[in-house]
Amino acid sequence: MLLNQYNKTRKYTESLCSPLNIEDYIPQAVDFTSPPKWHLAHTTWFFEEMILTKFVADYAVFDRHFGFLFNSYYQTVGEKALRAQRGIMTRPTVEQVYQYRHYVDGHIQRLLSDDISEEIQALIILGINHEQQHQELLLTDLKYTLSLNPTHPVYHPDFDLVSQPLVRTEEKQWLSFSEGVYEIGYKDSGFCFDNELGRHKVYLQNFQIATSLVTNAEYIEFIESGGYSTFQYWLDDGWAWLCNNQINSPLYWQYLDGQWYYYTLAGLKLVEPDAIISHVSYYEANAFATWKKMRLATEFEWEIAATQFNWGQRWEWTSSAYLPYPGFAISEGAVGEYNGKFMVNQMVLRGASVATSENHSRASYRNFFQPQCQWQFSGIRLVK
Ligand code: AVJ
Ligand code: FE
Repeated sequence: MLLNQYNKTRKYTESLCSPLNIEDYIPQAVDFTSPPKWHLAHTTWFFEEMILTKFVADYAVFDRHFGFLFNSYYQTVGEKALRAQRGIMTRPTVEQVYQYRHYVDGHIQRLLSDDISEEIQALIILGINHEQQHQELLLTDLKYTLSLNPTHPVYHPDFDLVSQPLVRTEEKQWLSFSEGVYEIGYKDSGFCFDNELGRHKVYLQNFQIATSLVTNAEYIEFIESGGYSTFQYWLDDGWAWLCNNQINSPLYWQYLDGQWYYYTLAGLKLVEPDAIISHVSYYEANAFATWKKMRLATEFEWEIAATQFNWGQRWEWTSSAYLPYPGFAISEGAVGEYNGKFMVNQMVLRGASVATSENHSRASYRNFFQPQCQWQFSGIRLVK
């Protein structure tokens, strides 16, 4: 039932914040991450702006400034605060943001206790899926911020998330696919984002894809064989990124006394060799594959092959640019800004990660980030 799903999702976001201290809610380390307080408020604003102000006749907004403060990128809706300044907003307070959540929850719950149109239902489902996306972002953003603290704070001892070793049965095998016409895109009747629609045919050549993801041990071999100092493995943009930012390992890795360590949400740990690599950029994923004399999958190869291997531990970089599928249509109104306008300069990631919320993954799901991004739980699957 929708009401249960709504309540569960809203609660889970708050439970992710339960290990936090009040100070943790505020800082924004860099402009691509957002503070927990902002995620809590923005996901609430989405329900308020897209549903309550539109469909509840006498709805009074909780605070007339919140539209400005917590609109992320919707030009349709009006003015918005600067993204890079989310961390200097010490007001509203965290307490006021929780009050905002409960106010909006009350109104959505009331709405859901009556018969509602399919249009409103669809928007509530979109709001739930939106909040699930922000649950993952809340964790990845928090990890980024805490990682900059020299004392390596523990968010929660159960949230290492990256050290789970591959089990023996998961050792790498190759699955073969024959050339031919395949169908891509969402085909069921439940929820999906607009960027998955427009089911269409593609032609694939023969390919072989690995059943498991690249491990830390394999990646350390790449590092030790000069991976980060050999331009031949790198795309030119990637090489410039590496040089300008002095990148020599995945994000959160540190070489101390002859051993690799990484920061996890459970504190600083020795890198587990048999665990799956995480926090690599597209540039690193591509360089690793080039070093192996292999390549990354296209998003289409991935979608076809995914029925035959386990996935869901890491977002998997594909070699596909994030582009609209044939017939992609931008919806009317603000929700039309949700995905379509970001279809340039980003790469598609497929799968899901250890930080992805329950019931928020499908084989047709298209995640997307710029090629230099390392802070998601992103990994590498090889194709030959
Ligand atoms: C799909 C994860 C790239 O981070 O902007 C959040 C998710 N969309 N609010 C993003 C999203 C609107 C989106 N990603
Ligand atoms: Fe959002």
